Amino acid sequence: MDGNGRWARARGLPRTVGHNSGAEAVRRAVKGAISCGVEYLTLFGFSSENWKRPLAEIDDLMGLLKLYLRREIEELHQNGIRMQVIGDRSRLGPDVVALIEAAETKTAANKKLTLTIALSYGSRAEIVEAARRAAEAVARGELTPDQIDETRFERFLFTAGMPDPDLLIRTSGEKRISNFLLWQCAYAEFVFLEKHWPDFGQEDMKAAIAEFHGRNRRYGATE
Ligand code: IPE
Ligand code: MG
Repeated sequence: MDGNGRWARARGLPRTVGHNSGAEAVRRAVKGAISCGVEYLTLFGFSSENWKRPLAEIDDLMGLLKLYLRREIEELHQNGIRMQVIGDRSRLGPDVVALIEAAETKTAANKKLTLTIALSYGSRAEIVEAARRAAEAVARGELTPDQIDETRFERFLFTAGMPDPDLLIRTSGEKRISNFLLWQCAYAEFVFLEKHWPDFGQEDMKAAIAEFHGRNRRYGATE
């Protein structure tokens, strides 16, 4: 979800307004995903690198997140959406963590859409953490080094149990992955949009999925 700041700057507005409008776009992305029959939607909300931003902006973003968690969870729940968060929770405030845990518990049994928010998330850190957890399992004698294969390793990632993404959409003209789901996106199809995240609508989700369906996925094999 990129481009909140640029969207605001283009309108002579403070970045906060861009982030607020970005939160509205989240609602449309979720609706668009559901109407297309998507079962897993993962949003990159805040990266490990975003901690480098000015404290005031971080406070704004965390405030927005808390507002979203308080106000939207009931509606998400009514719509059969399971919400979960991936990332390094140790850096999040205890109030944020408590709201996340409450939302995850409340929606745990929902089946229509799994909405995963990546917060304080970095993919390299996730992979290193998975390696550490695998090493700990070996040290406890639960696993031998030669038993570690892709399937077993994946179980140590935050995304354990989730399918790999088929489609990755990035807004705002940037054409890079920025430490997002590096392992999981091995065979994802990428769609890059010029528009900024606050302008993202249900029709953009539909168009990206239509483009995805036109791609020829070979997973390294021949036709
Ligand atoms: C995305 O918009 C929102 C977050 C990363 C939290 P940006 O804040 O990155 O907006 P730009 O890239 O400065 O336009
Ligand atoms: Mg950005």
